[in-house]
Formats: sequence, C-alpha cells, structure tokens
Amino acid sequence: MSGQLDESAWSLPVYGQLPFEPIRGDGAYLETRDGQRLLDLYGGHAVACLGYGHPGLSRAIREQTDQLIFQSNIVPMSVRAETCRMLADFAPAGLDRVFLVNSGAEANENALRLAFRSNGRSRVLAVEGAFHGRTGAAAAVTWGAAASWYGYPRLPFDVSFVPRDDIAALEAAMSDEVAAMIIEPVQGVAGAVDLSTEFLQAARGACDRSGALLIFDEVQCGMGRSGHPFVAQAINVSPDILTTAKGLAGGIPAGAVITNSPIADGLKVGDLGTTFGGGPVACAAILAVIRAIRSEGLLENVQTISELIRTTCVRGPVTRVQGRGLLLGLITRQPAKAVRDALLEQDILTGTSGDPHVLRLLPPLTLKPIHVESLASALGDIGG
Ligand SMILES: Cc1ncc(COP(=O)(O)O)c(C=O)c1O
Repeated sequence: MSGQLDESAWSLPVYGQLPFEPIRGDGAYLETRDGQRLLDLYGGHAVACLGYGHPGLSRAIREQTDQLIFQSNIVPMSVRAETCRMLADFAPAGLDRVFLVNSGAEANENALRLAFRSNGRSRVLAVEGAFHGRTGAAAAVTWGAAASWYGYPRLPFDVSFVPRDDIAALEAAMSDEVAAMIIEPVQGVAGAVDLSTEFLQAARGACDRSGALLIFDEVQCGMGRSGHPFVAQAINVSPDILTTAKGLAGGIPAGAVITNSPIADGLKVGDLGTTFGGGPVACAAILAVIRAIRSEGLLENVQTISELIRTTCVRGPVTRVQGRGLLLGLITRQPAKAVRDALLEQDILTGTSGDPHVLRLLPPLTLKPIHVESLASALGDIGG
C-alpha cells in the first residue's frame, strides 16, 4: 500500500485489519488508496445502510453542520423532536418514546437500566451466541464475553443464558427474579442466525407471565435491514424496549432506546443522560435515513435482493444461506476467512463472523441485482 501511514505505532493493538485503505466511496463501491474498486457487501459492520455518497444523507449532514453543529439535551430542538417522532412512527406500534444515544452498547446499557428500574429485580436472561456490546452491562449479557475479553473483575448483575430456540429452557429459566430477557432476533455477530418466531413468541409470553420486560436488540438487524422496519414487525412480536444503532444514522454515530409510555412515564429528570446523544447532526442523519428508506422503497428492495442472493449464491463454496433480509450468513464448506480472502482478490468485500464457517453479508439496503450477479459469479469462480 503506497502513501499510507502506519496506525499501529499510535493505536492499541486490538484490531486485525484488512490489507487495504478505503479513501472514497460511491454507492456500494469503495475506492482504495491503491486504486482498487471494491464492491462493499459488508458496509462497515452494517453501518453504511444507504451506501456511500447518498445525496440526501450527505446534504442533510452538511446543512445541519452549517446551521448548528451541536447543542445537547439541555435545550429543546425541533430536529430532535422530529427524529423521535419519526423513529417512534417507524418502530412497532406502542413503542412511542425514544432516548437517543451514540452506539449500540450504550443503547443496551440504558435498556437494561430501564428494566431494572421498572421492576427492581436482579437477573437478566440472554441467549447463547448473542452479542450486545462491549460496555459493562451490555457485555455481561454477551455470550462468551465473561470467559474471554470482559475484563472487569465481576458482572454487575446475575445473568442466565438460554440455548437458541430452546423454548423449554427459556420457560425453565424464567422466574420472578428476572428483570428482563434481552434477545437479538437475528444474531448478527454470531453469523446472521435467525431465531425462530416460535421462540420469540414464547419469550414474549414468558415475560408477560412473570412480569419481566422483553428487550429486542435490533442494533444490527433493525432499521430496515430485515426488509421490515424492525424484525419485531416482521414476526409480529412487540418487545417492551427495542434498541437500535449501526445503520440508524447511515454512518454518523447514533443509537436509540425505544420504549412505551408507561415505562417512559416512570422516569424523572436525571435518571438517564448523555452528552452527545440526540445531537442535531446525528438527528438530521437519522431523519435522512428514515426518509430514504421510505421514499426509495428500500424495504421492498431488501426483500427482493435478499431473495436473489438466496436463489443465486448457493454455489461454489456456499452450501446454504441463513439470516433475514440483508443480514445474511453464507455457510461455507471451507473456512469463511479463506472465502472472504478469495472474494477480496476478486474485488468483493465481505465479512467473517463468530462462526468460522459463516461469511457475513451486511450490504447497503440500496444493493442492486447487478451486485448480486458479481457475487454469484465470483463465488462460482472460487469453486467448492
Ligand atoms: C446486536 C448488537 N448489539 C450491540 C452491538 C454493539 O454496538 P456498538 O458497537 O455500536 O456499541 C453490536 C455491535 O456489533 C451488535 O451487533
């Protein structure tokens, strides 16, 4: 790579980085410093939901930056009010109150705090394989974190993990100690593992019977990526609290906790807080993303393109496709990392996952059939 500064001299050695530097993007493509043009089917971990250089998103960010770059929640702002209104409208019916934050972990941290505050209980149920973020509470409910990278001397509350889709285990683990059950309806980091609708319905029923809150973590699978505003609407199961982030503002850091009025009305000034959350530039970007999803028919596009990938990309090293919408896991015969590297040689960027045999696709919601043709053809060239 020519002309690239070496990050590793000044940064912490906590990332394994890919061997190219992206310097520009347009649509679904990245241009690298070496002049390579890559089809980006990974979208910066699902963040670039409108791709790169989307005119509506870029304009909204530019205009808000020119007008007023920042003020915090200490003052009311119309752009924040409109953002909360539109997000509530985008979310499942009954989830009509919004707290804006900066990331997925921060959204989950606050969702868990809301649950503990609302019923005073001490335990959380989570699902094996789940990823909820790197902060203290979010990592406590992340499968495998405590045994590897958690880092803190103890967990902040009791956690029980339930095997995926095991309704009997879920019923057995539920008790009047449980403050909340937190679930990623499609487990992204795990490899786009879509939990069964029956399991998600059973979680709703068990929470209702015990008085626990149901939290859906739609940080990765939400904001249109499933082909519906949120997976909750696709399966007709409404949580008490829904968190989202990643594609929420199309590339500007933002997260949201969306809940119902009874929970919101139990709060008073000072119970939650953030400096940057709900800042006007992030709000302008969130508005632009929701408007684009609606005006460009992106939910329908996600469904069409997802189906096209499912029907044309089970070839070469790919034996099966799992996931929903444009959060897909391609199950590979050989290690997914080798397939990722082989696709990169053909100028296509994909991602790995927690499963060494699952290649993850998190492309822009604007993806076109021609991009799927490129992927299918490259997979065919790799062979099985
Ligand atoms: C489902 C899910 N929840 C939470 C997070 C944490 O989000 P962030 O990295 O923005 O804190 C992630 C990140 O990958 C995620 O996939």
